[in-house]
Amino acid sequence: MSIRLPFTKKKRKESEPLTNTENIPNHVAIIMDGNGRWAKKRSLPRIAGHKEGVDSVVRTVRAAHKCNVNIVTLYAFSTENWKRPQKEIDFLMKLPKEFLHIHLPELMERNVRIQTIGEFDALPAHTKEAVQYAIDKTRNNDGLLLNFALNYGSRYEIVQATKQVMADIQNSKLSMDALDEEIFAKYLYTKELSDPDLLIRTSGEQRLSNFLLWQLAYTEFWFTDVYWPDFDEAVFKQAIEEYQQRQRRYGGI
Ligand code: FPP
Repeated sequence: MSIRLPFTKKKRKESEPLTNTENIPNHVAIIMDGNGRWAKKRSLPRIAGHKEGVDSVVRTVRAAHKCNVNIVTLYAFSTENWKRPQKEIDFLMKLPKEFLHIHLPELMERNVRIQTIGEFDALPAHTKEAVQYAIDKTRNNDGLLLNFALNYGSRYEIVQATKQVMADIQNSKLSMDALDEEIFAKYLYTKELSDPDLLIRTSGEQRLSNFLLWQLAYTEFWFTDVYWPDFDEAVFKQAIEEYQQRQRRYGGI
Protein backbone atom coordinates (compact mmCIF):
# COMPACT_ATOMS: atom_id res chain seq x y z
CA MET A 1 0.00 0.00 0.00
CA SER A 2 1.67 3.25 -0.98
CA ILE A 3 0.36 6.66 -0.07
CA ARG A 4 1.36 10.08 -1.28
CA LEU A 5 1.25 13.04 0.99
CA PRO A 6 -0.48 16.03 -0.62
CA PHE A 7 1.67 18.71 0.94
CA THR A 8 5.23 19.84 0.89
CA LYS A 9 7.38 18.64 3.73
CA LYS A 10 8.30 21.12 6.41
CA LYS A 11 11.92 22.20 6.20
CA ARG A 12 13.52 21.48 9.56
CA LYS A 13 16.40 23.46 10.91
CA GLU A 14 19.24 21.54 12.51
CA SER A 15 19.33 22.77 16.08
CA GLU A 16 22.48 23.92 17.85
CA PRO A 17 24.46 21.27 19.73
CA LEU A 18 23.72 21.02 23.47
CA THR A 19 25.46 23.77 25.41
CA ASN A 20 25.64 21.61 28.54
CA THR A 21 27.04 18.17 27.79
CA GLU A 22 26.87 16.93 31.36
CA ASN A 23 24.21 14.62 32.75
CA ILE A 24 23.09 13.22 29.40
CA PRO A 25 20.63 10.34 29.81
CA ASN A 26 22.28 7.06 28.91
CA HIS A 27 19.01 5.44 27.82
CA VAL A 28 16.00 7.28 26.38
CA ALA A 29 12.73 5.37 25.87
CA ILE A 30 10.02 6.88 23.68
CA ILE A 31 6.30 6.19 23.33
CA MET A 32 5.73 7.43 19.79
CA ASP A 33 2.11 8.57 19.91
CA GLY A 34 -0.21 10.76 17.86
CA ASN A 35 0.29 9.44 14.33
CA GLY A 36 -3.45 8.92 13.84
CA ARG A 37 -4.40 12.36 15.17
CA TRP A 38 -1.68 14.01 13.08
CA ALA A 39 -3.21 12.40 9.97
CA LYS A 40 -6.79 13.18 10.98
CA LYS A 41 -5.95 16.87 11.38
CA ARG A 42 -4.90 16.83 7.73
CA SER A 43 -7.85 14.71 6.54
CA LEU A 44 -5.43 11.91 5.67
CA PRO A 45 -5.76 8.20 6.40
CA ARG A 46 -4.19 7.07 9.70
CA ILE A 47 -1.44 5.24 7.85
CA ALA A 48 -0.18 8.56 6.48
CA GLY A 49 0.66 9.45 10.08
CA HIS A 50 2.57 6.19 10.55
CA LYS A 51 4.46 6.73 7.32
CA GLU A 52 5.42 10.22 8.38
CA GLY A 53 6.37 8.80 11.78
CA VAL A 54 9.21 6.86 10.17
CA ASP A 55 10.95 10.16 9.34
CA SER A 56 10.67 11.10 13.01
CA VAL A 57 12.47 7.85 13.87
CA VAL A 58 15.29 8.88 11.54
CA ARG A 59 15.45 12.37 13.07
CA THR A 60 15.48 10.85 16.56
CA VAL A 61 18.43 8.58 15.74
CA ARG A 62 20.37 11.55 14.37
CA ALA A 63 19.51 13.70 17.39
CA ALA A 64 20.38 10.96 19.89
CA HIS A 65 23.66 10.37 18.09
CA LYS A 66 24.46 14.08 18.23
CA CYS A 67 23.62 14.32 21.96
CA ASN A 68 25.71 11.22 22.80
CA VAL A 69 22.77 9.21 24.09
CA ASN A 70 23.78 5.53 24.15
CA ILE A 71 20.46 3.70 23.96
CA VAL A 72 17.12 4.65 22.39
CA THR A 73 14.15 2.32 22.86
CA LEU A 74 11.17 3.03 20.61
CA TYR A 75 7.69 1.60 21.26
CA ALA A 76 6.82 0.66 17.68
CA PHE A 77 4.12 -1.98 18.18
CA SER A 78 2.47 -3.18 21.38
CA THR A 79 0.83 -6.54 22.08
CA GLU A 80 -2.43 -4.53 22.24
CA ASN A 81 -1.92 -3.04 18.77
CA TRP A 82 -3.11 -6.33 17.21
CA LYS A 83 -6.63 -5.03 18.03
CA ARG A 84 -6.31 -2.43 15.24
CA PRO A 85 -7.87 -2.92 11.78
CA GLN A 86 -5.96 -5.54 9.79
CA LYS A 87 -5.05 -3.03 7.08
CA GLU A 88 -3.37 -0.76 9.60
CA ILE A 89 -1.52 -3.70 11.18
CA ASP A 90 -0.30 -4.82 7.76
CA PHE A 91 0.94 -1.31 7.05
CA LEU A 92 2.72 -1.03 10.41
CA MET A 93 4.38 -4.41 9.86
CA LYS A 94 5.86 -3.19 6.57
CA LEU A 95 7.44 -0.10 8.11
CA PRO A 96 10.55 -1.72 9.62
CA LYS A 97 11.49 -3.15 6.22
CA GLU A 98 10.84 0.17 4.48
CA PHE A 99 12.83 2.06 7.10
CA LEU A 100 15.76 -0.37 6.99
CA HIS A 101 15.79 -0.59 3.21
CA ILE A 102 16.39 3.16 3.01
CA HIS A 103 18.30 3.91 6.19
CA LEU A 104 20.45 0.87 7.02
CA PRO A 105 23.48 2.37 5.21
CA GLU A 106 23.20 5.53 7.32
CA LEU A 107 22.77 3.46 10.49
CA MET A 108 25.93 1.53 9.61
CA GLU A 109 27.77 4.79 8.97
CA ARG A 110 26.66 6.08 12.36
CA ASN A 111 27.82 2.82 14.01
CA VAL A 112 24.25 2.09 15.23
CA ARG A 113 23.36 -1.36 16.53
CA ILE A 114 19.79 -2.59 16.12
CA GLN A 115 17.98 -4.77 18.62
CA THR A 116 14.42 -5.59 19.54
CA ILE A 117 12.42 -6.42 22.62
CA GLY A 118 9.07 -8.21 22.48
CA GLU A 119 7.71 -11.46 21.08
CA PHE A 120 9.73 -11.49 17.88
CA ASP A 121 8.65 -14.95 16.68
CA ALA A 122 5.00 -13.90 16.40
CA LEU A 123 5.76 -11.15 13.86
CA PRO A 124 5.04 -11.72 10.16
CA ALA A 125 7.87 -13.49 8.31
CA HIS A 126 8.69 -10.48 6.11
CA THR A 127 9.04 -8.20 9.16
CA LYS A 128 11.20 -10.71 11.03
CA GLU A 129 13.43 -11.23 8.01
CA ALA A 130 14.11 -7.52 7.48
CA VAL A 131 14.72 -6.84 11.15
CA GLN A 132 16.85 -9.95 11.67
CA TYR A 133 18.98 -8.94 8.70
CA ALA A 134 19.58 -5.52 10.29
CA ILE A 135 20.31 -7.06 13.71
CA ASP A 136 22.92 -9.36 12.14
CA LYS A 137 24.40 -6.65 9.96
CA THR A 138 24.78 -4.16 12.84
CA ARG A 139 25.78 -6.76 15.47
CA ASN A 140 29.38 -5.54 15.77
CA ASN A 141 28.58 -1.83 15.84
CA ASP A 142 29.31 -0.29 19.20
CA GLY A 143 27.71 3.14 18.90
CA LEU A 144 24.09 4.03 19.63
CA LEU A 145 21.86 1.05 20.42
CA LEU A 146 18.53 1.46 18.60
CA ASN A 147 16.12 -0.86 20.34
CA PHE A 148 12.67 -1.39 18.79
CA ALA A 149 9.88 -2.62 21.05
CA LEU A 150 8.00 -4.76 18.55
CA ASN A 151 5.05 -6.84 19.68
CA TYR A 152 5.99 -5.75 23.17
CA GLY A 153 3.82 -5.89 26.28
CA SER A 154 5.26 -5.33 29.72
CA ARG A 155 2.81 -7.42 31.74
CA TYR A 156 3.35 -10.34 29.36
CA GLU A 157 7.12 -9.88 29.73
CA ILE A 158 6.84 -9.97 33.53
CA VAL A 159 4.59 -13.05 33.53
CA GLN A 160 6.93 -14.88 31.13
CA ALA A 161 9.90 -13.95 33.31
CA THR A 162 8.07 -15.22 36.41
CA LYS A 163 7.31 -18.54 34.71
CA GLN A 164 10.96 -18.91 33.72
CA VAL A 165 12.12 -18.07 37.25
CA MET A 166 9.74 -20.70 38.67
CA ALA A 167 10.97 -23.30 36.17
CA ASP A 168 14.58 -22.54 37.11
CA ILE A 169 13.77 -22.87 40.80
CA GLN A 170 12.03 -26.18 40.12
CA ASN A 171 15.05 -27.43 38.16
CA SER A 172 17.39 -26.24 40.91
CA LYS A 173 19.12 -23.81 38.54
CA LEU A 174 18.14 -21.00 40.90
CA SER A 175 17.42 -20.96 44.61
CA MET A 176 14.44 -19.07 46.01
CA ASP A 177 16.74 -17.38 48.55
CA ALA A 178 19.05 -16.08 45.83
CA LEU A 179 16.23 -14.48 43.84
CA ASP A 180 16.37 -10.72 44.09
CA GLU A 181 15.55 -7.74 41.83
CA GLU A 182 18.83 -7.94 39.98
CA ILE A 183 18.40 -11.62 39.18
CA PHE A 184 14.73 -11.18 38.24
CA ALA A 185 15.71 -8.43 35.78
CA LYS A 186 17.92 -10.96 33.99
CA TYR A 187 14.75 -12.80 32.93
CA LEU A 188 13.32 -9.78 31.11
CA TYR A 189 13.80 -8.92 27.42
CA THR A 190 15.92 -6.01 28.62
CA LYS A 191 18.42 -8.18 30.49
CA GLU A 192 21.37 -6.63 28.68
CA LEU A 193 20.18 -3.02 28.96
CA SER A 194 20.38 -0.45 31.69
CA ASP A 195 16.99 0.95 32.74
CA PRO A 196 15.80 4.04 30.84
CA ASP A 197 16.85 7.32 32.41
CA LEU A 198 14.31 9.36 30.48
CA LEU A 199 10.89 8.42 29.08
CA ILE A 200 9.35 10.65 26.43
CA ARG A 201 5.70 10.34 25.36
CA THR A 202 4.39 12.48 22.55
CA SER A 203 0.84 13.63 21.68
CA GLY A 204 -0.26 14.91 25.10
CA GLU A 205 -1.21 11.52 26.54
CA GLN A 206 0.23 10.83 29.97
CA ARG A 207 0.15 7.07 30.54
CA LEU A 208 2.49 4.12 30.17
CA SER A 209 0.35 1.85 27.98
CA ASN A 210 2.01 -1.36 29.20
CA PHE A 211 5.52 -0.12 28.33
CA LEU A 212 8.55 -1.15 30.43
CA LEU A 213 6.62 -1.19 33.73
CA TRP A 214 9.47 -2.82 35.64
CA GLN A 215 12.26 -0.88 33.95
CA LEU A 216 10.72 2.59 34.41
CA ALA A 217 10.62 2.40 38.23
CA TYR A 218 13.06 5.33 38.67
CA THR A 219 12.92 6.89 35.20
CA GLU A 220 12.25 10.60 34.67
CA PHE A 221 9.11 11.21 32.57
CA TRP A 222 8.73 13.97 30.00
CA PHE A 223 5.52 14.61 28.08
CA THR A 224 4.93 16.82 25.08
CA ASP A 225 1.80 17.75 23.12
CA VAL A 226 3.75 17.38 19.85
CA TYR A 227 2.41 14.56 17.69
CA TRP A 228 5.03 11.95 16.80
CA PRO A 229 5.21 12.89 13.08
CA ASP A 230 6.20 16.43 14.17
CA PHE A 231 8.86 15.22 16.58
CA ASP A 232 12.29 16.53 15.65
CA GLU A 233 15.74 17.32 16.91
CA ALA A 234 14.61 20.52 18.63
CA VAL A 235 11.95 18.69 20.66
CA PHE A 236 14.37 15.88 21.51
CA LYS A 237 16.90 18.45 22.67
CA GLN A 238 14.26 20.19 24.78
CA ALA A 239 13.55 16.88 26.54
CA ILE A 240 17.24 16.29 27.18
CA GLU A 241 17.74 19.82 28.51
CA GLU A 242 14.82 19.47 30.91
CA TYR A 243 16.17 16.09 32.02
CA GLN A 244 19.53 17.72 32.73
CA GLN A 245 17.79 19.99 35.28
CA ARG A 246 16.13 17.12 37.15
CA GLN A 247 17.50 15.84 40.42
CA ARG A 248 17.22 12.10 40.69
CA ARG A 249 17.11 10.89 44.24
CA TYR A 250 16.05 7.24 43.84
CA GLY A 251 14.05 7.46 47.05
CA GLY A 252 16.88 9.11 49.00
CA ILE A 253 17.16 12.76 49.99
C1 FPP B 1 0.84 5.37 18.00
O1 FPP B 1 0.11 6.38 17.37
C2 FPP B 1 1.79 4.83 17.07
C3 FPP B 1 1.93 3.51 16.75
C4 FPP B 1 1.14 2.45 17.37
C5 FPP B 1 2.89 3.09 15.74
C6 FPP B 1 4.20 3.75 15.86
C7 FPP B 1 5.03 3.44 14.69
C8 FPP B 1 5.79 4.33 14.05
C9 FPP B 1 5.91 5.72 14.44
C10 FPP B 1 6.63 3.93 12.93
C11 FPP B 1 7.69 3.02 13.43
C12 FPP B 1 8.79 2.97 12.52
C13 FPP B 1 9.62 1.94 12.45
C14 FPP B 1 10.81 2.11 11.63
C15 FPP B 1 9.38 0.64 13.12
P1 FPP B 1 -1.45 6.17 17.17
O2 FPP B 1 -1.66 5.51 15.87
O3 FPP B 1 -2.03 5.45 18.34
O4 FPP B 1 -1.93 7.66 17.14
P2 FPP B 1 -3.31 8.22 17.71
O5 FPP B 1 -3.29 8.00 19.19
O6 FPP B 1 -3.26 9.66 17.35
O7 FPP B 1 -4.42 7.48 17.01
